[in-house]
Amino acid sequence: MEPKKLHIGLALAMGWLSGKGWQRPDSDVESAFNTAPYIEMAKLAEAYKLDFVFRPDTQFLNEELFDTEPGFCNLDPMLLLAAIAEHTKSIGIISTASTTLLPPYYVAKQLQTLQWISQGRAGWNIVTAIDGHENYGQTERLSSDERYEKSSEFLEVVMKLWKSFPNAALKQDKTTGIFADKTLVQSVHHEGKHLSVKGPLNLPESPFKDIALFQAGASESGRHFAANIADAVFAATPDIESGIELRQDLRAKAKAQHRDENSIKVFPGLSLFLASTQEEALQLYKSTHRQPSKQKRIEYIKDAIGLDLSNWPLHEPIKTNITKIHENVRSKTHSQLLLTYIHRESPTLAELLERPEVIGSSHWLVIGTPEDAFHSIVERANANALDGFIAIPGGDKNSMRLFFEEVIPMLVKSGWFRDEYKEVNLKERLRKV
Ligand SMILES: Cc1cc2nc3c(=O)[nH]c(=O)nc-3n(C[C@H](O)[C@H](O)[C@H](O)COP(=O)(O)O)c2cc1C
Repeated sequence: MEPKKLHIGLALAMGWLSGKGWQRPDSDVESAFNTAPYIEMAKLAEAYKLDFVFRPDTQFLNEELFDTEPGFCNLDPMLLLAAIAEHTKSIGIISTASTTLLPPYYVAKQLQTLQWISQGRAGWNIVTAIDGHENYGQTERLSSDERYEKSSEFLEVVMKLWKSFPNAALKQDKTTGIFADKTLVQSVHHEGKHLSVKGPLNLPESPFKDIALFQAGASESGRHFAANIADAVFAATPDIESGIELRQDLRAKAKAQHRDENSIKVFPGLSLFLASTQEEALQLYKSTHRQPSKQKRIEYIKDAIGLDLSNWPLHEPIKTNITKIHENVRSKTHSQLLLTYIHRESPTLAELLERPEVIGSSHWLVIGTPEDAFHSIVERANANALDGFIAIPGGDKNSMRLFFEEVIPMLVKSGWFRDEYKEVNLKERLRKV
C-alpha cells in the first residue's frame, strides 16, 4: 500500500546563521538582510515541490543574544514574502502575525494583499507571541489564556473584514462606470472585549479562495483555539511521544468541535544538521549550534518549571514532585514539554542538559546523514506523530543542499512525498490527506 503523502515546508530562516554558524567563511551572513538569498531558497523549495515556505517572526529584539548572533533580528515577514511571491508560482507562502500585538485591520489587509499577489498561496501563522508587548504600548504581558481569548476575537474580526468587501462586489465595469457594488460591501461594527473595528476592509477579497490558517502554541487554550480554526499547527515536538500526544489530542478536539479530524494537520519543526557521515554531522552541530553555559541551562529549567537543579549531581536521575506548571510561565508549551519529559524518562541532569527543550527551541533534532533524516521522518510518520514537517536546516548551507538533493528524493522514491503540484491554493493543498 502507498504511504500517505506528507506535507513539507521549509522555514525561511537561514538556520546556519544562528549560534556560531554565521562566523563560518561560507555563511553569507552579509546578505541576511537582502531578499535575494530567501528568494533563492523559496525557488529551490519550489523546484522540489515543497508545500510551502514559512517565515517565523517576533516583535522584539532579543537583547541577550543579538550581540553574538543575527538569528533574532530579521526582515519583516510580510514584505519579504511579497517579494518571494513575485518570484515563485506554486509554492505556499506563510507569514507570521501576532494577534496579541498587531491591529486586526492591518493584519487582515496585509494577508489579503499576499493572497492577491501570490494568487491564492498565502497562509497565516497565528501566534499569540510571548514577548514584545512593551513595543506596542502594553505595560503588562497578557496571560496565556487572555492571549488566546483575544486571539479568538481577533480571528473573528479578521474573517469578518475579509468578507466585508466580497469579490463579487468588485465590478470594474468601464461602460457603466460602476467600480464596486456598494450594496454588497458591509461594515463590520465589531465592539468586543479586546477589539473595536468598524470596517469594511479597503481591499476586496481576492478571487483565489481562502487563506490557509496555521497556529503555533500548544497550551490547553492554544490547542482548543487551533482545533477550532487551524488548517495546520506548527509544533515543537522534541520526541516522537510528544508528537503522537499532540496530534491525537488536536484531532480529538477538532472532532469534538464537529470538524473532520483530518482537516487539522500537525507539522513539527525539524532541525537538521546533515553531512555525509555522522561524525561530520556531529562536528558541524558542535561547532555551530548555540551552546548555552551550564548555569544558563539550569536557570532556564528553573524559570520553565520551577525546579532548581543547581546542586543536583550530574549523573543522578532527576525526580520531582512538581506536576503542574505555573500559570504565568513564558511559554506553557515549552514548560509542559520539559516537565512531561522529566516525568516520563527520569533523565540524569547530564542527559537533561543536552535536551533540545533546554538548549534551544524544543524542535525535533536530527544530527546525521540524509539517510538518518529519512529514517527519522518515516519512523514518526509511521507512528502517526505528524502529517508533515517544517524543515529548518542548520549548521551550514550544505545541510540544506543535502536535505533537498538527498532527503526529498528518498521521500519521493518511497512514496511519502509527491513530485508535482496539483492545487495552487494552499488551503486546498493542505486538505489532501
Ligand atoms: C513551534 C512554535 C513556534 C512559535 N513561533 C512563534 C513566532 O514565530 N513568533 C511569535 O511571536 N511567537 C511564536 N510562538 C509563541 C506562541 O505564539 C505562544 O505565544 C507561546 O507558545 C505561548 O503560548 P502557549 O501558552 O500556548 O504555550 C511559537 C510557539 C511554538 C510552540
